[in-house]
Amino acid sequence: MSTRVNIYDLAVGGEGVGRLADGRVVFVAGAALNDELVVSITEEKSRYARAEIVEVLVAGEGRHEPPCQYVKAGCGGCDWQHLTQEAQIDAKLSAVEDSLIKLGSLEPPEIGYVVGPESLKYRTTVRVGIHDGRPAYRASRSNALIQVDNCRVSHPLMDDIFADGFFGAANEATIRVGARTGDRLVMGHPNANDFEMPADVLVVDKKKARRGAQAHIVEEAAGVEWRVSANSFFQSSPEGAEMLVGLAAEWLTKHDSGEHVLVDLYSGVGLFSGTVGDWFDKVTAVESSASAVSDALHNLGSHVAIHHMQVEKWIPELADVVIADPPRAGLRSEGVEIIRGTQAPHVILVSCDAGALGRDAALLSGAGYDLDQVDILDMFPQTSHVEVVSGWVRRN
Ligand SMILES: C[S@@+](CC[C@H](N)C(=O)[O-])C[C@H]1O[C@@H](n2cnc3c(N)ncnc32)[C@H](O)[C@@H]1O
Repeated sequence: MSTRVNIYDLAVGGEGVGRLADGRVVFVAGAALNDELVVSITEEKSRYARAEIVEVLVAGEGRHEPPCQYVKAGCGGCDWQHLTQEAQIDAKLSAVEDSLIKLGSLEPPEIGYVVGPESLKYRTTVRVGIHDGRPAYRASRSNALIQVDNCRVSHPLMDDIFADGFFGAANEATIRVGARTGDRLVMGHPNANDFEMPADVLVVDKKKARRGAQAHIVEEAAGVEWRVSANSFFQSSPEGAEMLVGLAAEWLTKHDSGEHVLVDLYSGVGLFSGTVGDWFDKVTAVESSASAVSDALHNLGSHVAIHHMQVEKWIPELADVVIADPPRAGLRSEGVEIIRGTQAPHVILVSCDAGALGRDAALLSGAGYDLDQVDILDMFPQTSHVEVVSGWVRRN
């Protein structure tokens, strides 16, 4: 069924929001604010619907021609290529503000915006599907694969891998490069049989990597060389990683946060422990991924105690500062209880989802913390993903 819809908002997940004649909200992928559209309903629920664009009758002011040719073909890799940079920034600012007000029940301070790395060709890790041995991204809200020979957001070191690489019969692959070292790695899931890659690319098998086979790149960021294994998390670019560290360092410098004990929760390969951690006498890092812990042991000095476990199971130690950088689901009440247990006067929360930020904000506020500063670091241009750094001070 086709119908007309005006878009009055962009939802946290990136879709446009409109209203159907029967009063239900409708979510439309690829929409811009103030678009007037003809849409076709693809999913019906009692309280909302989803639809796809049939025709743009009047383009909203933030709409432009996507820089990537694969958006028209339906590639769902980047959901906001159709928005100008200004429109992306406005939408990220209002998503974060709305979330803090509506989910966090807070009156947030003015939200800062920090321009991230380049708006194109910035990602140093991508995960692709494989179609006929060639790299592909999933279509928006579908399992269909769109083959991509030239990705506009992946780092230039991946260009010949996208153009010429052969990925055998694997289902998926992770491509990872060290932008500042030139290292390159491709990991096939579930295996990397028959892969054909440029000679310098380290090809690794997900199954073998899981069993502990060593396969890593080295990246340089914030003056440190980081070993990053195929299965470990690393920020989307070295520039983004050092901006993140810079924001944390700036906030800690503004506050007299003490220099004795730092607790680095969800510590990954050690980005915060190995940078601002140098200011502290003692650092405790908590991380659940075996591969990231193995990298952290390699990357970090002996003043960092690394606990290989889930944050939720760690018994809190007293701390001056906690930096917590959880996955997309956020801290949830379990993570907030751990932070409360450290009695840290200063907490930095790094959130990669606006909704999770709002929910965590409500929990941190309930646990006795006041929100002092919020900055969006735009690490994922062309997408609705946000990276938000917030600073929290414990109430006396
Ligand atoms: C967003 S990354 C941040 C990593 C690191 N802070 C950095 O900046 O590179 C989140 C990390 O949390 C880890 N993780 C996920 N769930 C966890 C849990 N319940 N307990 C501990 N670590 C967890 C992941 O393996 C990942 O390394």
